[in-house]
Amino acid sequence: GLPARVRIHEVGARDGLQNEKGAVPTEVKAEFVRRLAAAGLGTVEATSFVHPKWVPQLADAEDLFPLVRDLPVRLPVLVPNERGLDRALALGAREIAVFASATESFAKANLNRTVDESLALFAPTVVRAIEAGLKVRGYLSMCFGDPWEGPVPVEQVVRVARALADMGCDELSLGDTIGVATPGHVEALLTALNEAGVPTSRIAVHFHDTYGQALSNTLAALRHGVSTVDASAGGLGGCPYAKSATGNLATEDLVWMLDGLGIETGVDLAALTATSVWMAEQLGRPSPSRTVRALSHK
Ligand code: HMG
Ligand code: MG
Repeated sequence: GLPARVRIHEVGARDGLQNEKGAVPTEVKAEFVRRLAAAGLGTVEATSFVHPKWVPQLADAEDLFPLVRDLPVRLPVLVPNERGLDRALALGAREIAVFASATESFAKANLNRTVDESLALFAPTVVRAIEAGLKVRGYLSMCFGDPWEGPVPVEQVVRVARALADMGCDELSLGDTIGVATPGHVEALLTALNEAGVPTSRIAVHFHDTYGQALSNTLAALRHGVSTVDASAGGLGGCPYAKSATGNLATEDLVWMLDGLGIETGVDLAALTATSVWMAEQLGRPSPSRTVRALSHK
């Protein structure tokens, strides 16, 4: 059966804005995070403490985080290494995410490391974060297909997922970074992970909507028992280090489906849509979300 409640892990302010061409003022980002929290999203990924030259769009993390850290919601931040963890801890972050890759090509492009070297970068970071009482999520990118390597074998994904789980990540977020997954593949990966000892309760899904499959893939994951779903308000997003990646599953499209299924999210869809319309005005182009367009059509 389907879960009674889904926790939405909102990534618009991070995955969405990391890919913007123009600079978004820090105060606009802070207002975006505040509005997302006010719309009922209980987890709002705020920014990344990565190298500012690698992701210049999020180079203002030190200025942004203090503007939002007292909001009554979970505010995870991405950190790739101990340097990133130091920066996050200094600002009082309570939750971090490390981000591994199932493929060598993307590990190199995104982290300048092999897969195993990047795991070695995360291990001491995760240990220290747990010691400091932080919650730790492990993202795993390129779980289905990779722009350089093509389809990604399930066993390859399972190996890195196990490493992240063994390292102590509370939650694993399976990334379809370039949006090529289809529902049967999702079911096959979830089954393989369960067989390898990773329970569904620790798994989240992170779909990009490049091929229009994000919602179908989400439903397949829900049917398997997944109850944490990543989404981006207005469908913002992409990854600067993965060619052809488009926006994430739009949070509004997800909430429309979940509302229709009678699954609780705590999200006020009207307030969320108004937030994405406002953000689209700030960015100077309309939201790609079908639900945002339908609900804001006058
Ligand atoms: P590197 O160049 O190999 O870094 O980058 P390094 O470890 O060799 O260090 C070089 C210099 O950078 C040093 O300074 C470090 O202190 C500094 P120097 O001694 O030369 O003066 N440095 C830092 N400065 C600030 N903050 C830091 C930091 N780390 C090192 N955290 C590195 C390696 C991992 C740092 C780099 O590749 C990086 O920052 N990558 C981040 C890429 C990224 O953020 N990608 C997007 C997020 S992933 C994603 O979007 C996918 C996801 O959505 C899921 C999905 O869709 O699949 C999560
Ligand atoms: Mg992503």
